[in-house]
Amino acid sequence: MSSERSDFVTVVEVGPRDGLQNETNILPASTKVELIEQLANCGVPVIEAGSFVSPKWVPQMADTESVITGLTILPGTRYPVLVPNLTGFERAIKAGAKEIAVFTAASESFSERNTNCSITESISRLEAVTEQAKATGIRVRGYISCVLGCPYEGVIDANAVTAVCAQLMRLGCDEISLGDTIGVGTPALANALVKSVSSVVPVTQLAVHFHDTYGQALANILACLDAGVRTVDSSVSGLGGCPYANGASGNVASEDVVYMLHGLGLATGIDLNSLSITGDWISKQLQRPNNSKVGLALNQTNRSIHHAIE
Ligand code: HMG
Ligand code: MG
Repeated sequence: MSSERSDFVTVVEVGPRDGLQNETNILPASTKVELIEQLANCGVPVIEAGSFVSPKWVPQMADTESVITGLTILPGTRYPVLVPNLTGFERAIKAGAKEIAVFTAASESFSERNTNCSITESISRLEAVTEQAKATGIRVRGYISCVLGCPYEGVIDANAVTAVCAQLMRLGCDEISLGDTIGVGTPALANALVKSVSSVVPVTQLAVHFHDTYGQALANILACLDAGVRTVDSSVSGLGGCPYANGASGNVASEDVVYMLHGLGLATGIDLNSLSITGDWISKQLQRPNNSKVGLALNQTNRSIHHAIE
């Protein structure tokens, strides 16, 4: 199925990175590998497989080298990794990563707490990374955190987000993911933000990344689809949160997103039943509740009912 089609939505699964980076139970690399391979076999087209950040800052991701080198790659599936600086980029390339994601924020306070530097300093760090990536044909996604609110500064102006988008485009990012890190956004604001940043990023290069702290994520995604967005980040069983944003809950659950997209007549290439089995399995591995409503429903009821609805 082609991601160029307007009825196709690319679901970017961030559970193995954004999810697991904030789980108290640290899983062995072999379980992370199994998670990523299961997700690929469900038909998930893009799986963020880990991060090469400082292991002192995020010990949950310290074994990303072993995860990447241990993966059996499924042809056609993409496995980007998160990178904060040149050290991280070099580690990623050595491990065999073919795509990276870099990250900054629309809020100065969050930038300092997440990466120990101002937004301007983080952009220069990322410039060094994107220069190397572009020279070697590595695809780069750029994340912006706190696009609809910051745990330290409150409301964030859409113009501030648009200005950071423009900087990331200048660096040559292939895609920009707008992160509602603490899940405070609401649909009208999310829709307006997409329209505002569309002045500097073509909507085909935009992704949206909602954490579900206030239960608004699905509504926000729908509002962003209305504005033309066709790339959506999510995390199987709603894993995770953000270590530098107190109270931030996990990403919107992939199962819930896929169920909504299929209900809207949008294709994802993902087998929802298999995805819900993976969500149940990883929740058990982590000894935590499954945070996907669709996952819970499918795992508790007769799957044939779901087949009848789909
Ligand atoms: P720093 O301490 O300022 O870094 O951290 P530094 O450059 O001064 O280096 C200090 C030490 O760390 C040195 O080692 C470096 O070698 C080492 P020492 O000499 O002390 O032994 N170091 C590294 N080691 C391994 N890999 C590296 C690396 N870099 C330095 N890449 C730094 C700055 C950016 C590294 C740190 O703040 C960091 O790693 N932050 C990452 C925090 C993080 O991962 N946050 C979560 C991801 S972002 C997110 O979740 C948001 C998102 O989902 C979107 C949304 O929801 O909003 C994307
Ligand atoms: Mg996130």
